[in-house]
Amino acid sequence: ASILSVAAEIFPLIKTGGLADVVGALPLALAREGVKVVTLIPGYPAVKAALETPNMVHRFASLMGAPARLLRARAGALDLLVIDAPHLYDRPGNPYLQAPGVEWPDNGQRFAALAKVAAEIGLGLLADYRPDVIQAHDWHAGLTPAYLHYAQKERRLRAPPVVLSIHNLAFQGLFPASLRTKLGLPAEAMAIDGVEYWGDIGFLKAGIQFADQVTTVSPSYAAEITTEEGGMGLGGLLKTRAKSLVGILNGIDADVWNPETDTDISARYTAETLERRAINKLALQAKFGLRPDAEAPLFGILSRLTDQKGVDLLLGALPVLFAEGAQLIVCGQGEPRYEAAFSQAAERYPGAMGRFLGYREDLAHLIQAGADAILAPSRFEPCGLTQLCAMRYGAVPVVSRTGGLSDTIIDANTAGIARSAATGVQFAPATQDMLEDAIRRTCALYRDPVSWRRVQLNAMASDSSWRVSAAEYAALFARLAARPLRAPA
Ligand code: ADP
Ligand code: GLC
Repeated sequence: ASILSVAAEIFPLIKTGGLADVVGALPLALAREGVKVVTLIPGYPAVKAALETPNMVHRFASLMGAPARLLRARAGALDLLVIDAPHLYDRPGNPYLQAPGVEWPDNGQRFAALAKVAAEIGLGLLADYRPDVIQAHDWHAGLTPAYLHYAQKERRLRAPPVVLSIHNLAFQGLFPASLRTKLGLPAEAMAIDGVEYWGDIGFLKAGIQFADQVTTVSPSYAAEITTEEGGMGLGGLLKTRAKSLVGILNGIDADVWNPETDTDISARYTAETLERRAINKLALQAKFGLRPDAEAPLFGILSRLTDQKGVDLLLGALPVLFAEGAQLIVCGQGEPRYEAAFSQAAERYPGAMGRFLGYREDLAHLIQAGADAILAPSRFEPCGLTQLCAMRYGAVPVVSRTGGLSDTIIDANTAGIARSAATGVQFAPATQDMLEDAIRRTCALYRDPVSWRRVQLNAMASDSSWRVSAAEYAALFARLAARPLRAPA
């Protein structure tokens, strides 16, 4: 099958989180399953700069108020369609924010344009490329099946099936109803069975409403989001779509995340040469001004600093962590109040705590390779990728039991250790008390070198690649592609 993947970010060109990792890695994994993926992406400066031999394949007289072009290009192994619309996308830096914490005021138009172009491609815009299935990622691409639905009704065209893939239900893309005509949506769309959500236009809601299939990034999260507590206001709608909702676990790109070949780390290693991690630990301690201490358990966290990630729980648990004689490195960016709190903490615990507030791919790799344990105390976590990278790097994940974290980690409880199955430390519920308990358990495990080594080796031996999940996506796409094209309503 031939798939058009529609997304707002793609690794390695532009990334704010795991969405980019998935959008960048899945096409390569699907290629091995015989599935051809082209990714439609906005032409931000960082994207345009990476294009090899771009070709103009279409010219729009007007896309959300100004002319635009559609480019077909490669960037490394990625096959891309790029929307070159300077009035929407010629803005460097974070794709969503004008300044930290401040969204671009025209994000509604910017991402509606992405969905609009995706829908037009599905309807036959390009003479020599028509996808069998469209995969729309998150709210940014959520309007795609809505545009298709209304275009079909109006223009009596046939449309390919759409898979909506939810990476995070917390970001729903809500915009005022007054934007409707600008976005080219018909009046009838402002209804409960349309794009309307409590008086606003809901991009993610529209996607869930109109997609032929909804996926999310872990089986546990798929179940959680159909409930009142986990549904974030969309639980009821998701429940009505339960038959068309499936959770498929994310993987990680085993070439990007490989401690044997990683050029960002001080000492490369495998499961057989795990003792070489000590070199990375020392390098990390030096880089962050920590006491060079091979014996102190070194915790790391690599995360957006938001409520979702439970970083406030970690801030509360710091006294326990340091009382255990452990060290901590924080690498992340996010809410200013959390950034400030981690800075203050780092000053309070010199030699034991270091932080980098920002985004640095190479540091992420060094932390995975040198930290003893990687924390993910998330309140909810659709899948999570840092715990997968941690396992591959022999860092022990310490995670809350929610969403994808519960599907990917086996707790080092007595049974987990005795049967040689444990791959990390898991705690529930996500509270400060339970996190403190997990930190104590992790430190105790660390002081039992035989058990610790076993957990590390179990983790390194577990398969977090895309192999299994890519096959699941391929089967899903094949099933949808085999359906007769949706006739006009
Ligand atoms: P989310 O998408 O919710 O942020 P994931 O765990 O799925 O969480 O993905 C996060 C990705 O971003 C991982 O690849 C992780 O290594 C990376 N990452 C997070 N924070 C940073 C940072 N400050 N610097 C570099 N990489 C980071
Ligand atoms: C989201 C989720 C994260 C997931 C990522 C990729 O950002 O928060 O859990 O791993 O998307 O699917």
